Amino acid sequence: MPQLASRVGRAKPSAIMQVAEKAKRLKAEGRDIISFSIGVPNFLPGEHVYAAARESLTHDSGQYGSNRGSDALLDASLAHMAEVGLAGFTRANCATGIGAKHVIFNLAEALLDEGDTIVFPTPYWTSYLDIAEIVDAKIDLLPCPPEQSYKLRPEQLEAALAKKPKVFLFNNPSNPTGMVYGRDEIDALADVLVRHPDTWIITDDIYNRMVFDGIGYHNFLHERPELRDRLIFIDSLSKTYGMPGWRVGFMAGPEQVAKAVVALNSNHITNIPEVTTAAAVAALTGPQDIPRAKNAEFAAKRDQVMDVLAQIPGLVCPRPQGAFYVFPDVSAYYGKTHGPTGLKAGNDIELCSALLEAKGVACVPGSAFGEPRALRISYTCPTPQLAPGLQRIREFFAELT
Ligand SMILES: Cc1ncc(COP(=O)(O)O)c(C=O)c1O
Repeated sequence: MPQLASRVGRAKPSAIMQVAEKAKRLKAEGRDIISFSIGVPNFLPGEHVYAAARESLTHDSGQYGSNRGSDALLDASLAHMAEVGLAGFTRANCATGIGAKHVIFNLAEALLDEGDTIVFPTPYWTSYLDIAEIVDAKIDLLPCPPEQSYKLRPEQLEAALAKKPKVFLFNNPSNPTGMVYGRDEIDALADVLVRHPDTWIITDDIYNRMVFDGIGYHNFLHERPELRDRLIFIDSLSKTYGMPGWRVGFMAGPEQVAKAVVALNSNHITNIPEVTTAAAVAALTGPQDIPRAKNAEFAAKRDQVMDVLAQIPGLVCPRPQGAFYVFPDVSAYYGKTHGPTGLKAGNDIELCSALLEAKGVACVPGSAFGEPRALRISYTCPTPQLAPGLQRIREFFAELT
């Protein structure tokens, strides 16, 4: 019997999708389920995006397109970056992909030989680990527990980079914690980065428009422009524009890196389809009122979630300032049992499973993100579901004995 390639065994199905699937199944069985599990923005882009897609169909070439991305999409991406202070890139610095995930995968293939080290903070977005494992990189995780507000400290970065890893991967604002690095924090980390010229820097900043409390979005390049020759910035339309299913992501970085990603595109996907490209350009260049309104809505929802979590004794929850996640440390409840159902909450997975069974609320166990003390609440559900969902969470913890 022929065998599958060993890399397939290293790629695990996403724990996030597993929870979402279970929630879906319970819903299909007629249970009243409120999902705080999957990280989707839960809104649709404006009508102008659909109009652009329809218009594109009327003169579709039906042909292969650019491996890099159409000029219109590259220019729209460049203008979008310039708006957050990342100007000075050209088309030659850019590449597009089927979502940021695909861009990150391409970068892993472009930058990491087997056995090369990639370093990133924990908690991390699940796919970082899976992608690094698929390309057979060595993974060096930098623990950032709730006691340090889930944020990487300069001395941790210094120690990690002293070992000369090939790639440092950084995510700001963070999935799963929602934490956002302030300017001083970015500045201090950038100081460390300039001292270690042997490491590529990837900043996955796809939530850069989802920042609250006036804290602003900061990138190492703002503080240290000299990092430009080894920093790769990643963005996506998925979250900002409510377009996760359209699958458009992009990167800007050194020309040789963009060229490598384009070469991989030519072998993986060839191009992003014309209709999708037209929709993406419309989203990036059209009215921005929907993303802005959603950002304000998410900030208010963050407050609502934090207010309820504050009423649950024993939870430790650094206050997120971006994206749409809250990541409370619930470990004070491990080892307890849910009184009314007898379900055990021995760890994050059992606790999330008991919460889903007992109260019909789906959250993601923190171990999916490398932090088994926590669970992730993604709070983009329709507004009328938020308060009842949070109330159920509060009841559930009160019933753990
Ligand atoms: C931090 C982070 N990076 C990348 C992605 C992937 O985004 P895309 O939909 O553009 O592939 C996600 C999606 O959840 C994410 O949270």
